[in-house]
Amino acid sequence: MKDLTPRREDLDPIEIASRDEIAALQLERLKWSLRHAYDNVPFYRQAFDAAGVHPDDVTDLADLAKVPFTTKADLRANYPFGMFAVPRAQVRRIHASSGTTGKPTVVGYTERDLDTWGTVVARSMRAAGTRPGDMVHVAYGYGLFTGGLGAHYGAEKLGCTVVPASGGMTQRQVTLIEDFGASTIMVTPSYMLSILDEYRAQGLDPRKSPLQVGIFGAEPWTNAMRAEIEQAFDMHAVDIYGLSEVMGPGVANECVETKDGLHIWEDHFYPEIIDPETGMPVPDGELGELVFTSLTKEAFPIIRYRTRDLTRLLPGTARSMRRMEKVTGRSDDMIILRGVNVFPTQIEEQLLSVREFAPHFQIELGREGRMDMMAVIVEALEGHSDNAIRTHAAAELQHRIKSTVGISVSVRVADPGGVPRSQGKAVRIVDTRPKE
Ligand code: DLL
Repeated sequence: MKDLTPRREDLDPIEIASRDEIAALQLERLKWSLRHAYDNVPFYRQAFDAAGVHPDDVTDLADLAKVPFTTKADLRANYPFGMFAVPRAQVRRIHASSGTTGKPTVVGYTERDLDTWGTVVARSMRAAGTRPGDMVHVAYGYGLFTGGLGAHYGAEKLGCTVVPASGGMTQRQVTLIEDFGASTIMVTPSYMLSILDEYRAQGLDPRKSPLQVGIFGAEPWTNAMRAEIEQAFDMHAVDIYGLSEVMGPGVANECVETKDGLHIWEDHFYPEIIDPETGMPVPDGELGELVFTSLTKEAFPIIRYRTRDLTRLLPGTARSMRRMEKVTGRSDDMIILRGVNVFPTQIEEQLLSVREFAPHFQIELGREGRMDMMAVIVEALEGHSDNAIRTHAAAELQHRIKSTVGISVSVRVADPGGVPRSQGKAVRIVDTRPKE
Protein backbone atom coordinates (compact mmCIF):
# COMPACT_ATOMS: atom_id res chain seq x y z
CA MET A 1 0.00 0.00 0.00
CA LYS A 2 1.23 3.45 -0.91
CA ASP A 3 1.98 6.12 1.70
CA LEU A 4 -0.89 8.55 1.16
CA THR A 5 -0.29 10.90 4.11
CA PRO A 6 -1.49 14.37 3.07
CA ARG A 7 0.97 17.27 3.15
CA ARG A 8 0.52 19.47 6.19
CA GLU A 9 0.19 22.57 4.07
CA ASP A 10 -2.86 21.05 2.37
CA LEU A 11 -4.81 20.67 5.64
CA ASP A 12 -7.32 23.25 6.87
CA PRO A 13 -5.28 25.26 9.43
CA ILE A 14 -7.86 24.57 12.18
CA GLU A 15 -7.19 20.80 11.89
CA ILE A 16 -3.76 21.33 13.39
CA ALA A 17 -4.43 24.47 15.45
CA SER A 18 -3.71 24.56 19.18
CA ARG A 19 -6.33 23.23 21.57
CA ASP A 20 -6.80 26.76 22.94
CA GLU A 21 -7.58 28.09 19.49
CA ILE A 22 -10.03 25.26 18.84
CA ALA A 23 -11.75 25.79 22.20
CA ALA A 24 -12.04 29.54 21.65
CA LEU A 25 -13.65 29.01 18.25
CA GLN A 26 -16.00 26.38 19.70
CA LEU A 27 -17.18 28.66 22.49
CA GLU A 28 -17.88 31.54 20.15
CA ARG A 29 -19.77 29.27 17.76
CA LEU A 30 -21.59 27.43 20.55
CA LYS A 31 -23.03 30.68 21.86
CA TRP A 32 -24.25 31.55 18.39
CA SER A 33 -25.75 28.10 17.85
CA LEU A 34 -27.64 28.01 21.17
CA ARG A 35 -29.00 31.49 20.59
CA HIS A 36 -29.99 30.60 17.01
CA ALA A 37 -31.86 27.47 18.14
CA TYR A 38 -33.55 29.27 21.05
CA ASP A 39 -34.67 32.23 18.98
CA ASN A 40 -35.94 30.29 15.98
CA VAL A 41 -37.14 26.84 17.05
CA PRO A 42 -40.11 26.78 19.46
CA PHE A 43 -39.14 23.28 20.60
CA TYR A 44 -35.74 24.49 21.85
CA ARG A 45 -37.17 27.59 23.47
CA GLN A 46 -39.68 25.48 25.43
CA ALA A 47 -37.09 22.86 26.36
CA PHE A 48 -34.57 25.49 27.58
CA ASP A 49 -37.25 27.41 29.49
CA ALA A 50 -38.55 24.24 31.12
CA ALA A 51 -35.00 23.38 32.24
CA GLY A 52 -34.50 26.96 33.50
CA VAL A 53 -31.55 27.70 31.23
CA HIS A 54 -30.99 30.49 28.77
CA PRO A 55 -28.33 30.67 26.02
CA ASP A 56 -26.71 33.55 27.97
CA ASP A 57 -26.04 31.14 30.87
CA VAL A 58 -23.46 29.33 28.76
CA THR A 59 -20.23 31.22 29.23
CA ASP A 60 -17.79 28.33 28.90
CA LEU A 61 -17.88 24.97 27.16
CA ALA A 62 -18.56 23.01 30.36
CA ASP A 63 -21.79 25.02 30.86
CA LEU A 64 -23.28 23.09 27.96
CA ALA A 65 -24.05 20.33 30.50
CA LYS A 66 -26.87 22.58 31.84
CA VAL A 67 -28.70 22.44 28.52
CA PRO A 68 -31.32 19.69 27.99
CA PHE A 69 -30.77 16.79 25.60
CA THR A 70 -32.55 16.28 22.28
CA THR A 71 -33.67 12.79 21.30
CA LYS A 72 -34.96 11.07 18.19
CA ALA A 73 -38.46 11.16 19.74
CA ASP A 74 -38.25 14.98 19.88
CA LEU A 75 -37.43 15.09 16.18
CA ARG A 76 -40.32 12.76 15.36
CA ALA A 77 -42.72 14.84 17.45
CA ASN A 78 -41.81 17.84 15.29
CA TYR A 79 -42.25 16.05 11.96
CA PRO A 80 -41.74 17.19 9.28
CA PHE A 81 -40.29 20.72 9.53
CA GLY A 82 -40.84 21.78 13.15
CA MET A 83 -37.12 21.73 13.99
CA PHE A 84 -36.13 24.05 11.15
CA ALA A 85 -34.67 27.39 12.24
CA VAL A 86 -34.98 29.22 8.92
CA PRO A 87 -37.97 29.92 6.65
CA ARG A 88 -38.66 26.89 4.46
CA ALA A 89 -37.75 28.75 1.29
CA GLN A 90 -34.16 29.10 2.54
CA VAL A 91 -33.86 25.33 2.87
CA ARG A 92 -32.02 24.08 -0.22
CA ARG A 93 -32.20 20.36 0.47
CA ILE A 94 -34.04 17.79 2.57
CA HIS A 95 -32.78 14.39 3.69
CA ALA A 96 -34.59 11.86 5.84
CA SER A 97 -33.87 8.68 7.76
CA SER A 98 -35.44 5.49 6.49
CA GLY A 99 -37.87 5.44 9.42
CA THR A 100 -38.29 1.69 9.80
CA THR A 101 -40.39 2.40 12.87
CA GLY A 102 -42.84 5.26 12.67
CA LYS A 103 -42.28 8.51 10.80
CA PRO A 104 -38.91 9.27 9.20
CA THR A 105 -36.64 11.91 10.72
CA VAL A 106 -36.44 14.89 8.40
CA VAL A 107 -33.41 17.19 8.22
CA GLY A 108 -32.72 20.30 6.14
CA TYR A 109 -29.76 22.31 4.89
CA THR A 110 -29.34 25.92 3.79
CA GLU A 111 -26.92 26.80 1.03
CA ARG A 112 -24.27 27.56 3.64
CA ASP A 113 -24.96 24.25 5.41
CA LEU A 114 -24.42 22.38 2.14
CA ASP A 115 -21.16 24.25 1.71
CA THR A 116 -20.04 23.32 5.25
CA TRP A 117 -21.01 19.69 4.63
CA GLY A 118 -19.01 19.59 1.39
CA THR A 119 -16.04 21.06 3.27
CA VAL A 120 -16.07 18.45 6.06
CA VAL A 121 -16.51 15.56 3.61
CA ALA A 122 -13.66 16.91 1.45
CA ARG A 123 -11.55 17.18 4.63
CA SER A 124 -12.50 13.61 5.56
CA MET A 125 -11.52 12.32 2.13
CA ARG A 126 -8.20 14.14 2.24
CA ALA A 127 -7.56 12.58 5.67
CA ALA A 128 -8.29 9.18 4.09
CA GLY A 129 -5.61 9.73 1.44
CA THR A 130 -7.74 10.90 -1.50
CA ARG A 131 -6.29 13.74 -3.62
CA PRO A 132 -7.73 16.33 -5.99
CA GLY A 133 -7.91 14.78 -9.45
CA ASP A 134 -8.57 11.25 -8.14
CA MET A 135 -11.37 9.12 -9.58
CA VAL A 136 -13.93 8.50 -6.81
CA HIS A 137 -16.55 5.77 -7.05
CA VAL A 138 -19.51 6.48 -4.75
CA ALA A 139 -21.55 3.35 -3.99
CA TYR A 140 -23.43 4.73 -0.98
CA GLY A 141 -27.13 4.98 -1.83
CA TYR A 142 -28.26 8.24 -3.46
CA GLY A 143 -31.60 9.63 -2.34
CA LEU A 144 -33.05 10.60 1.02
CA PHE A 145 -30.17 8.74 2.71
CA THR A 146 -27.30 11.18 3.28
CA GLY A 147 -24.55 8.74 2.19
CA GLY A 148 -24.59 9.13 -1.60
CA LEU A 149 -25.14 12.87 -2.04
CA GLY A 150 -23.04 13.70 1.03
CA ALA A 151 -20.04 11.81 -0.35
CA HIS A 152 -20.70 13.15 -3.84
CA TYR A 153 -20.52 16.86 -3.08
CA GLY A 154 -17.53 16.37 -0.78
CA ALA A 155 -15.64 14.60 -3.56
CA GLU A 156 -16.49 17.36 -6.03
CA LYS A 157 -15.39 19.99 -3.53
CA LEU A 158 -12.04 18.24 -3.09
CA GLY A 159 -11.62 18.41 -6.85
CA CYS A 160 -12.11 14.76 -7.72
CA THR A 161 -13.88 13.09 -10.65
CA VAL A 162 -17.01 11.48 -9.20
CA VAL A 163 -18.81 8.35 -10.40
CA PRO A 164 -22.28 8.46 -8.80
CA ALA A 165 -22.84 4.68 -8.94
CA SER A 166 -25.19 4.50 -5.90
CA GLY A 167 -25.90 1.04 -4.40
CA GLY A 168 -26.90 -2.19 -6.13
CA MET A 169 -26.17 -3.85 -9.47
CA THR A 170 -22.94 -5.29 -8.11
CA GLN A 171 -21.69 -6.66 -11.43
CA ARG A 172 -21.81 -3.19 -12.90
CA GLN A 173 -20.02 -1.72 -9.88
CA VAL A 174 -17.01 -3.92 -10.65
CA THR A 175 -17.08 -3.04 -14.35
CA LEU A 176 -17.18 0.70 -13.59
CA ILE A 177 -14.37 0.54 -11.01
CA GLU A 178 -12.15 -1.38 -13.43
CA ASP A 179 -12.99 0.51 -16.63
CA PHE A 180 -12.90 4.02 -15.14
CA GLY A 181 -9.94 3.29 -12.88
CA ALA A 182 -11.38 4.47 -9.55
CA SER A 183 -8.66 4.94 -6.93
CA THR A 184 -11.11 5.75 -4.08
CA ILE A 185 -14.34 3.95 -3.26
CA MET A 186 -16.94 5.21 -0.77
CA VAL A 187 -19.35 2.49 0.33
CA THR A 188 -20.55 0.60 3.40
CA PRO A 189 -18.01 -2.03 4.52
CA SER A 190 -20.61 -4.78 4.20
CA TYR A 191 -21.39 -3.85 0.60
CA MET A 192 -17.63 -3.76 -0.10
CA LEU A 193 -17.65 -7.47 0.80
CA SER A 194 -20.34 -8.07 -1.82
CA ILE A 195 -18.16 -6.23 -4.34
CA LEU A 196 -15.25 -8.44 -3.30
CA ASP A 197 -17.33 -11.56 -3.97
CA GLU A 198 -18.19 -10.17 -7.38
CA TYR A 199 -14.52 -9.59 -8.23
CA ARG A 200 -13.87 -13.24 -7.51
CA ALA A 201 -16.99 -14.38 -9.39
CA GLN A 202 -15.72 -12.52 -12.46
CA GLY A 203 -12.32 -14.20 -12.10
CA LEU A 204 -10.60 -10.85 -11.39
CA ASP A 205 -7.80 -10.42 -8.85
CA PRO A 206 -9.01 -7.71 -6.43
CA ARG A 207 -5.40 -6.95 -5.47
CA LYS A 208 -4.85 -5.79 -9.03
CA SER A 209 -7.84 -3.40 -8.93
CA PRO A 210 -7.07 0.34 -9.32
CA LEU A 211 -8.48 0.99 -5.80
CA GLN A 212 -6.08 2.50 -3.28
CA VAL A 213 -8.46 3.91 -0.66
CA GLY A 214 -11.82 2.76 0.71
CA ILE A 215 -13.80 5.20 2.88
CA PHE A 216 -16.17 2.96 4.79
CA GLY A 217 -18.93 3.87 7.20
CA ALA A 218 -22.67 4.16 7.89
CA GLU A 219 -22.51 0.98 10.01
CA PRO A 220 -20.22 -0.47 12.67
CA TRP A 221 -17.22 -2.48 11.49
CA THR A 222 -14.15 -3.81 13.25
CA ASN A 223 -10.40 -3.57 12.87
CA ALA A 224 -10.53 -7.27 11.95
CA MET A 225 -12.76 -6.32 9.00
CA ARG A 226 -10.30 -3.56 8.08
CA ALA A 227 -7.49 -6.12 7.91
CA GLU A 228 -9.66 -8.45 5.80
CA ILE A 229 -10.52 -5.75 3.22
CA GLU A 230 -7.01 -4.23 3.13
CA GLN A 231 -5.51 -7.66 2.52
CA ALA A 232 -8.07 -8.65 -0.13
CA PHE A 233 -7.75 -5.44 -2.20
CA ASP A 234 -4.26 -4.27 -1.23
CA MET A 235 -5.83 -0.90 -0.35
CA HIS A 236 -6.23 1.40 2.67
CA ALA A 237 -9.53 0.97 4.53
CA VAL A 238 -10.46 4.09 6.48
CA ASP A 239 -13.46 4.78 8.74
CA ILE A 240 -15.95 7.63 8.15
CA TYR A 241 -18.69 8.45 10.64
CA GLY A 242 -21.74 10.62 10.62
CA LEU A 243 -25.48 10.75 11.09
CA SER A 244 -28.22 12.63 9.30
CA GLU A 245 -29.40 14.46 12.41
CA VAL A 246 -25.97 16.05 12.83
CA MET A 247 -25.11 16.44 9.11
CA GLY A 248 -24.54 13.12 7.31
CA PRO A 249 -21.20 11.47 6.51
CA GLY A 250 -18.14 13.55 7.43
CA VAL A 251 -18.75 14.36 11.11
CA ALA A 252 -15.55 12.41 11.90
CA ASN A 253 -12.97 10.52 9.89
CA GLU A 254 -9.84 8.48 10.38
CA CYS A 255 -6.46 9.59 9.08
CA VAL A 256 -4.78 7.19 6.67
CA GLU A 257 -1.40 7.66 8.34
CA THR A 258 -2.60 6.52 11.79
CA LYS A 259 -5.91 4.60 11.45
CA ASP A 260 -6.33 4.97 15.20
CA GLY A 261 -9.91 6.18 15.53
CA LEU A 262 -11.85 9.04 13.95
CA HIS A 263 -10.93 12.70 14.33
CA ILE A 264 -14.10 14.64 15.02
CA TRP A 265 -14.32 17.86 13.01
CA GLU A 266 -14.74 19.79 16.22
CA ASP A 267 -14.91 23.20 14.58
CA HIS A 268 -18.44 22.26 13.43
CA PHE A 269 -19.62 19.47 15.76
CA TYR A 270 -19.11 19.59 19.53
CA PRO A 271 -18.89 16.10 21.05
CA GLU A 272 -19.63 14.90 24.58
CA ILE A 273 -19.76 11.42 26.06
CA ILE A 274 -22.43 10.80 28.68
CA ASP A 275 -23.37 7.95 30.92
CA PRO A 276 -26.50 6.68 29.12
CA GLU A 277 -28.20 5.83 32.43
CA THR A 278 -27.64 9.07 34.36
CA GLY A 279 -27.13 11.50 31.46
CA MET A 280 -24.04 12.90 33.23
CA PRO A 281 -21.01 13.78 31.07
CA VAL A 282 -18.06 11.43 31.65
CA PRO A 283 -14.37 12.40 31.27
CA ASP A 284 -12.52 11.83 27.98
CA GLY A 285 -11.32 8.24 27.70
CA GLU A 286 -14.44 6.71 29.28
CA LEU A 287 -16.93 4.68 27.29
CA GLY A 288 -20.45 6.04 26.98
CA GLU A 289 -23.05 7.49 24.62
CA LEU A 290 -21.92 10.05 22.08
CA VAL A 291 -23.80 13.38 22.14
CA PHE A 292 -23.40 16.12 19.54
CA THR A 293 -24.15 19.83 19.37
CA SER A 294 -23.87 21.54 16.00
CA LEU A 295 -21.84 24.75 16.06
CA THR A 296 -22.53 26.26 12.64
CA LYS A 297 -25.70 24.72 11.19
CA GLU A 298 -28.38 27.15 10.10
CA ALA A 299 -31.40 25.18 8.87
CA PHE A 300 -31.34 22.41 11.43
CA PRO A 301 -29.36 23.33 14.54
CA ILE A 302 -29.09 20.31 16.80
CA ILE A 303 -28.40 20.74 20.49
CA ARG A 304 -27.03 17.90 22.67
CA TYR A 305 -28.39 15.18 20.42
CA ARG A 306 -28.22 11.70 21.90
CA THR A 307 -26.85 9.53 19.10
CA ARG A 308 -27.15 6.21 20.99
CA ASP A 309 -23.74 5.33 19.54
CA LEU A 310 -21.31 3.99 22.09
CA THR A 311 -17.68 5.07 21.99
CA ARG A 312 -15.06 7.07 23.92
CA LEU A 313 -13.28 10.38 23.25
CA LEU A 314 -9.50 10.28 22.87
CA PRO A 315 -6.90 13.04 22.44
CA GLY A 316 -5.83 14.10 18.96
CA THR A 317 -2.89 12.40 17.22
CA ALA A 318 -2.49 13.10 13.48
CA ARG A 319 -4.69 16.20 14.00
CA SER A 320 -5.31 18.38 17.07
CA MET A 321 -8.99 17.57 17.00
CA ARG A 322 -10.10 14.83 19.39
CA ARG A 323 -10.73 11.31 18.19
CA MET A 324 -13.64 8.98 18.83
CA GLU A 325 -12.85 5.31 19.06
CA LYS A 326 -14.39 3.08 16.37
CA VAL A 327 -18.06 2.77 17.34
CA THR A 328 -18.75 -0.51 19.16
CA GLY A 329 -22.40 -0.34 18.22
CA ARG A 330 -25.64 1.45 18.91
CA SER A 331 -27.34 0.95 22.23
CA ASP A 332 -30.40 -0.14 20.14
CA ASP A 333 -28.37 -2.99 18.59
CA MET A 334 -27.12 -4.26 21.90
CA ILE A 335 -28.38 -7.76 22.51
CA ILE A 336 -28.82 -8.81 26.11
CA LEU A 337 -28.49 -12.56 26.03
CA ARG A 338 -29.14 -14.22 29.35
CA GLY A 339 -27.75 -11.20 31.14
CA VAL A 340 -24.69 -10.63 28.93
CA ASN A 341 -24.47 -7.55 26.68
CA VAL A 342 -23.41 -8.43 23.14
CA PHE A 343 -22.81 -6.33 20.03
CA PRO A 344 -22.75 -7.76 16.50
CA THR A 345 -19.21 -6.32 16.10
CA GLN A 346 -17.98 -8.74 18.77
CA ILE A 347 -19.28 -11.64 16.70
CA GLU A 348 -17.72 -10.16 13.54
CA GLU A 349 -14.33 -9.99 15.22
CA GLN A 350 -14.41 -13.69 16.14
CA LEU A 351 -15.83 -14.80 12.80
CA LEU A 352 -12.98 -13.15 10.92
CA SER A 353 -10.45 -15.24 12.80
CA VAL A 354 -11.89 -18.52 11.48
CA ARG A 355 -10.29 -19.14 8.09
CA GLU A 356 -12.89 -21.55 6.69
CA PHE A 357 -15.72 -18.98 6.78
CA ALA A 358 -16.60 -16.02 4.55
CA PRO A 359 -16.91 -12.63 6.33
CA HIS A 360 -20.71 -12.47 5.82
CA PHE A 361 -22.92 -13.22 8.84
CA GLN A 362 -26.29 -12.75 10.49
CA ILE A 363 -27.44 -13.21 14.05
CA GLU A 364 -30.75 -14.92 14.67
CA LEU A 365 -32.43 -14.47 18.01
CA GLY A 366 -34.99 -17.06 19.03
CA ARG A 367 -36.62 -18.41 22.14
CA GLU A 368 -36.75 -21.94 23.48
CA GLY A 369 -39.09 -22.21 26.44
CA ARG A 370 -38.18 -19.15 28.49
CA MET A 371 -34.62 -19.00 27.28
CA ASP A 372 -33.36 -16.60 24.63
CA MET A 373 -31.08 -18.32 22.13
CA MET A 374 -28.63 -16.88 19.65
CA ALA A 375 -27.65 -18.56 16.41
CA VAL A 376 -24.84 -17.16 14.28
CA ILE A 377 -25.39 -17.90 10.62
CA VAL A 378 -22.14 -17.98 8.69
CA GLU A 379 -21.10 -19.09 5.28
CA ALA A 380 -18.55 -21.69 4.19
CA LEU A 381 -15.95 -20.39 1.79
CA GLU A 382 -16.01 -21.71 -1.76
CA GLY A 383 -14.11 -25.02 -1.73
CA HIS A 384 -14.97 -25.90 1.88
CA SER A 385 -17.93 -28.16 1.22
CA ASP A 386 -16.48 -30.95 3.34
CA ASN A 387 -18.86 -31.53 6.28
CA ALA A 388 -16.17 -32.53 8.74
CA ILE A 389 -14.24 -29.29 8.07
CA ARG A 390 -17.43 -27.23 8.45
CA THR A 391 -18.35 -28.90 11.73
CA HIS A 392 -14.87 -28.38 13.04
CA ALA A 393 -14.82 -24.69 12.04
CA ALA A 394 -18.29 -24.16 13.55
CA ALA A 395 -17.06 -25.64 16.83
CA GLU A 396 -14.03 -23.36 16.72
CA LEU A 397 -16.20 -20.24 16.25
CA GLN A 398 -18.55 -21.35 19.02
CA HIS A 399 -15.58 -21.80 21.32
CA ARG A 400 -14.08 -18.41 20.43
CA ILE A 401 -17.37 -16.64 21.11
CA LYS A 402 -17.79 -18.48 24.40
CA SER A 403 -14.29 -17.65 25.60
CA THR A 404 -14.13 -14.00 24.49
CA VAL A 405 -17.73 -12.74 24.57
CA GLY A 406 -18.88 -15.12 27.27
CA ILE A 407 -22.03 -16.49 25.68
CA SER A 408 -23.08 -19.87 24.30
CA VAL A 409 -24.41 -19.67 20.76
CA SER A 410 -25.15 -22.17 18.03
CA VAL A 411 -23.43 -21.75 14.68
CA ARG A 412 -25.20 -22.65 11.44
CA VAL A 413 -23.05 -22.96 8.34
CA ALA A 414 -24.74 -22.00 5.08
CA ASP A 415 -23.42 -22.82 1.62
CA PRO A 416 -21.45 -20.13 -0.24
CA GLY A 417 -23.91 -17.32 -1.05
CA GLY A 418 -26.33 -18.51 1.67
CA VAL A 419 -26.17 -15.42 3.90
CA PRO A 420 -28.22 -12.49 2.50
CA ARG A 421 -25.94 -9.88 0.89
CA SER A 422 -25.92 -6.24 1.90
CA GLN A 423 -26.40 -3.48 -0.66
CA GLY A 424 -26.12 -0.72 1.91
CA LYS A 425 -26.31 -1.03 5.67
CA ALA A 426 -26.12 -4.72 6.61
CA VAL A 427 -29.01 -6.26 8.54
CA ARG A 428 -27.14 -8.10 11.28
CA ILE A 429 -29.94 -9.14 13.62
CA VAL A 430 -32.99 -11.19 12.74
CA ASP A 431 -35.24 -11.37 15.81
CA THR A 432 -37.72 -14.25 15.70
CA ARG A 433 -38.61 -14.04 19.39
CA PRO A 434 -42.34 -13.69 20.10
CA LYS A 435 -43.28 -10.08 20.87
CA GLU A 436 -43.99 -9.63 24.59
O1 DLL B 1 -25.24 6.55 7.98
C1 DLL B 1 -24.39 8.76 7.45
C2 DLL B 1 -23.19 8.14 6.81
C3 DLL B 1 -23.25 7.81 5.47
C4 DLL B 1 -22.03 7.93 7.55
C5 DLL B 1 -22.13 7.27 4.86
C6 DLL B 1 -20.93 7.41 6.94
C7 DLL B 1 -20.96 7.06 5.60
P1 DLL B 1 -27.74 7.69 9.18
O2 DLL B 1 -28.41 6.85 8.16
O3 DLL B 1 -28.50 8.79 9.82
O4 DLL B 1 -26.48 8.39 8.58
O5 DLL B 1 -27.21 6.70 10.27
C8 DLL B 1 -26.41 7.16 11.33
O6 DLL B 1 -25.20 5.05 11.44
O7 DLL B 1 -25.76 6.97 14.39
C9 DLL B 1 -24.33 5.13 13.63
O8 DLL B 1 -25.16 4.29 14.41
C10 DLL B 1 -24.18 4.50 12.25
N1 DLL B 1 -22.86 4.85 11.70
C11 DLL B 1 -22.57 5.77 10.77
N2 DLL B 1 -21.24 5.76 10.49
C12 DLL B 1 -20.69 4.80 11.28
C13 DLL B 1 -19.37 4.29 11.48
C14 DLL B 1 -25.38 7.76 8.02
N3 DLL B 1 -18.33 4.73 10.79
C15 DLL B 1 -25.97 6.00 12.19
N4 DLL B 1 -19.22 3.31 12.40
C16 DLL B 1 -25.05 6.43 13.30
C17 DLL B 1 -20.26 2.83 13.11
C18 DLL B 1 -21.73 4.23 12.05
N5 DLL B 1 -21.51 3.25 12.95
